[in-house]
Amino acid sequence: MNRRRIFAANWKMHHGPSSARAFLERFLPAMPAAPGRALWFFPPCPPMEAVAMSVRSRTDVSVGAQNVHWEPKGAFTGEISVDIAKDAGARGALVGHSERRHAFGESDEATGLKVRAVLDGGLVAMLCVGETLEQREAGETEAICLRQLRAGLAKVAASELDQVLVAYEPVWAIGTGRNATPEDAAAVHGTLRAALTRLGAAAPAILYGGSVNLGNVRELMAQGEIDGVLVGGASLDPVKWAELVASGSAG
Ligand code: PGA
Repeated sequence: MNRRRIFAANWKMHHGPSSARAFLERFLPAMPAAPGRALWFFPPCPPMEAVAMSVRSRTDVSVGAQNVHWEPKGAFTGEISVDIAKDAGARGALVGHSERRHAFGESDEATGLKVRAVLDGGLVAMLCVGETLEQREAGETEAICLRQLRAGLAKVAASELDQVLVAYEPVWAIGTGRNATPEDAAAVHGTLRAALTRLGAAAPAILYGGSVNLGNVRELMAQGEIDGVLVGGASLDPVKWAELVASGSAG
């Protein structure tokens, strides 16, 4: 049986339309579709349409927004709606990335509204959860992750949970070069999976993120609990990203 494997590139504030197109011209030929494997790109807004156009012949590759507002339209300078993202070719959106929570003050309540808006728009929500170092050291990892999970899914019916992917990203591991051991990550994934199953999810998919790189992706993906990876820094170069995806897909 083919395991599901999801490789998601979070480009954060990197790559405009021209470098995004150049990236995909190199990456796509190097990475033919493989059974059970799904690839996602989360570019900044302006290149979203360019990425969607570049990948349009590939059903295994999807584009998502890094963030959306929960309102359908209105006076929200600097924000984009689910419909705008959809019109640009997005099939999903990240919700509650730790940089949104911690650098932009996004609340648990806002993540719940955003997940609802994303699902109402017919897109996939990739809900990110994760504890800070302080919270981990205080033994609060599971409580924080479960609180963020429940808040993000507060307005979601059991029948809609197959439209939600969850990414566990310990805040202290993002962009720091430190990452959770595969066993630590798998333990949190197990807790999240049990919670998702209790909420009625038939086949929860949980990605790990935080300093994933070519050196650790294989070991992480070898954990049965880890269905995929959400990668920032190591997804920015097309050759290195192709190597990382290939390594994480093997075995
Ligand atoms: P990183 O970022 O891979 O650069 O640690 C991951 C993320 O923030 O999604």
